[in-house]
Amino acid sequence: MPDPTTDTPSPSSNSPGKDDPLAFFARLKPHLARLDTFLHEQLLEFEPEVRELAAYCIDASGKRIRPALVFFSGWQGDDTVSEDHVRLAAVIEMVHLATLVHDDIMDGATLRRGRPTATEKFGPDTAVLLGDALFAHALHVAAQFPTTAVCRGVSRSTRRVCTGEIMQTLAGENTHRDTAYYRRVIELKTAELFHISCQLGAALAGHPAELADAAGRFGRHLGTAYQIYDDLADFFGDENRIGKTLGTDLASNKATLPLLLLQQRLPTAEADALRHEMATGNTANIRLRIRQMADLRVFADVMAAIEEEIHSAETALAPLGDIESTRLLRQLAAVLKAQAARLRSASS
Ligand code: IPE
Ligand code: IPE
Ligand code: MG
Ligand code: MG
Repeated sequence: MPDPTTDTPSPSSNSPGKDDPLAFFARLKPHLARLDTFLHEQLLEFEPEVRELAAYCIDASGKRIRPALVFFSGWQGDDTVSEDHVRLAAVIEMVHLATLVHDDIMDGATLRRGRPTATEKFGPDTAVLLGDALFAHALHVAAQFPTTAVCRGVSRSTRRVCTGEIMQTLAGENTHRDTAYYRRVIELKTAELFHISCQLGAALAGHPAELADAAGRFGRHLGTAYQIYDDLADFFGDENRIGKTLGTDLASNKATLPLLLLQQRLPTAEADALRHEMATGNTANIRLRIRQMADLRVFADVMAAIEEEIHSAETALAPLGDIESTRLLRQLAAVLKAQAARLRSASS
């Protein structure tokens, strides 16, 4: 997975050295260049009155993880950039951008991809509608495929992503604060888009349904691992390197895995104090909470959960056999594993 830090190349950065474990990202360069062109062409479809606002979201180049999944799952050779895959990658990236615009409103986040969030720049009222416009345009582009399969798949996934975000906001101070609920939320809000990227990427390349489903299962596990990683990075990551506001999970009362496990392991009075801090958005004790996560093996157990999901992702690829897509997706999973391991060293 392209690293969210500035010291590791993303697929769109310059070619890494020959023995670099990230060298395989360079193979995405023509695909991502075509994707960028396609996304910029889409801006012309937005009304001139909002074009600059849409450009602000689309321009801010992220790690393009979901496009990478689309291209790798449907890999057809280094010299082949399939227009169908470019269109699918653009559709999914636009859905993703829309969810981020909305998510930042709800999280009160001010920094995204190293720049002010849309809500910070344009205000929440405009940002909510801008997110809607991005969602709508993504589905408009999806409807341009000759069959309805992509539009049906992506619109269903979009609804499921929204459901995950709704469930997360519905979790109150004393309700839905358990790991089963958390797992369901992340399956929907994050793993779903990873799943559909892989499943449709493979299907568009002509793989039969059972192989496309296997790729989809890989995506679901990888997406789950990615969200758990992100939830750990919210405490153990470096905001300057990751380029987005961290520490918002405690402040916005999100019952993520690190916070749930910490609450379970703290003595009652301390757990109550943490719950109060979360409910009131008080981050004064965040350094203490991070230390407690390391001391009470929360960090270790969350890391183990990430590794388990990555392992399940790799196992899910078995039906695809020894093809280039399998190798590329495995390499992507290995990058996430390495990235998580770097959080480990940051904590010690
Ligand atoms: C952020 O996704 C939201 C999560 C699922 C944690 P990314 O980390 O893929 O964000 P960008 O696209 O690179 O900015
Ligand atoms: C992921 O959750 C957001 C979506 C899947 C829409 P987070 O709230 O953890 O994502 P970040 O940390 O803001 O990127
Ligand atoms: Mg957020
Ligand atoms: Mg997060």
